[in-house]
Amino acid sequence: MLYRLGIPVLDNIMKQTFKMPSLLVIAGHPGSGKTTFATKICYSNAVEKRRCAYLTLQEDKEKLFTTMKRLGMDLESVEKEGYYHFVRLPIMGSTMPMVLDTMNRIMEKLSPRVVIIDSINALLANMEDETKKARAVLQNYFYNLPKVINGLVVLVSEIPFHRQDILLGHLEFVADTIIILKHKIDKGRLVRTMEIRKARGAPIIEAEMPFTIVEEKGIQVFASPILERIGEKGEQLKLPCKELERAMGFLKLGDHVYSYFPADERPLEGLMLAFSVAVYNNKRIQVVSYRYGSESLAVLLWRGTEYASSIYEKIKGVKIDRVALFDEFNKFIKKKTALVGINPFAYSLQELFIKEIEIVEEAKADIVMFHGSDLLEAVQKPEDYIPLIYNQVHLLKARGKLVIRANADYNQLYKEVGSSIADVIIGWQDQTCPDDSHKHCRMGIVWGRGKTKVLLKDLDIWKCIALGLEPIFKKALIKG
Ligand SMILES: Nc1ncnc2c1ncn2[C@@H]1O[C@H](COP(=O)(O)OP(=O)(O)O)[C@@H](O)[C@H]1O
Ligand SMILES: [Mg+2]
Repeated sequence: MLYRLGIPVLDNIMKQTFKMPSLLVIAGHPGSGKTTFATKICYSNAVEKRRCAYLTLQEDKEKLFTTMKRLGMDLESVEKEGYYHFVRLPIMGSTMPMVLDTMNRIMEKLSPRVVIIDSINALLANMEDETKKARAVLQNYFYNLPKVINGLVVLVSEIPFHRQDILLGHLEFVADTIIILKHKIDKGRLVRTMEIRKARGAPIIEAEMPFTIVEEKGIQVFASPILERIGEKGEQLKLPCKELERAMGFLKLGDHVYSYFPADERPLEGLMLAFSVAVYNNKRIQVVSYRYGSESLAVLLWRGTEYASSIYEKIKGVKIDRVALFDEFNKFIKKKTALVGINPFAYSLQELFIKEIEIVEEAKADIVMFHGSDLLEAVQKPEDYIPLIYNQVHLLKARGKLVIRANADYNQLYKEVGSSIADVIIGWQDQTCPDDSHKHCRMGIVWGRGKTKVLLKDLDIWKCIALGLEPIFKKALIKG
């Protein structure tokens, strides 16, 4: 490998290209992130002791260093070590031969493996003899430069605000790779995407990928997974009761469970089943709710745990100490649970998608429950929302997460979409209890891949939950 880009998703897609000298064009409107991206490439190589020269006409060194430091790139240190060179091109009014001469001297003096020109437009605009011919000469020079340095040349290309079309001229033909950075406002939020327009020697899997620029982390690109990678066998989870085994067949990390319920009856059972499977398997669980904050989620979980403990006492003929139980419950919550409430309307859809993935990554949970996405679905256009959900499901599958999506079922289309991408489906219903027509009993209709639907009754469900929570209950038993 001669160089890399320093962004895992892209490095992965384009690794074939990195064995050969290459010309990369990064194009975009002002503010789209070109300088940040180019600097990331420069920095990532410098850190790995490949010399990088950053040639610029418009960036102020101090400002660039400060901005990039906030984005997690310490340019000062790689500069000190001699792997990063900031070069200001003083070519106002210079002519073509002078530019070429300057460039050649820089290459000779620094012998960089990576060269960034930020930007090619500024370089051309500052040349006295900017003619068609001069352009062609310069482009020819850059076409050959990767071979000369045996590395990577990055040309940053500014697209003026008023232009939507991307006019790269000859660059379209000489570049090995073209990446276009875009940003737009969606529902009042900034959304960034990058498009790989052309990538010689690499299969382009995805045309457009969302990305963010955030404090400390810098530029982060998110790609949807390649479907072939999915379906690898994840770790199989133990199910706490026979009824669930009969209904689901099996449940493993990487599965997607869709759980739906009527909007006016929100069953605690769904949340508790997920929680009990986590406890039973000693796995980390995260609940991301669009409806409740983290405190309310903890209260709900405690309420369910308390109720399940009374059922456990009945089936096992034991007594549980409430205070000890509360302690044990809190220990699990603290050690193995991440509860997050987010307001989905504080983000654009793309941002939310990224935010959710980030939250899940950070929590390092094995089991993730999204709770109440129906609120979000209610305001989305299906053509925007469905691909995003689809990609997210597969991305989390590829990362080996058991995902449970629990939604109210008032939107028929989303209910069907949710079901069609699930490995296990649970539909909750209220019915009058067989033994008492004045009371309501909850039913869960469970479908697991390759099986017929199975009806789980109220008490069976709570029995399963209680058995799943056994590891916590056992520690709180009253002896004697
Ligand atoms: N610390 C930061 N946190 C979040 N975003 C930042 C930060 N610093 C810069 N940005 C964003 O990066 C963008 C600037 O990117 P830049 O690489 O200079 O664009 P370009 O070179 O395409 O004009 C700005 O839109 C700004 O919002
Ligand atoms: Mg810039």
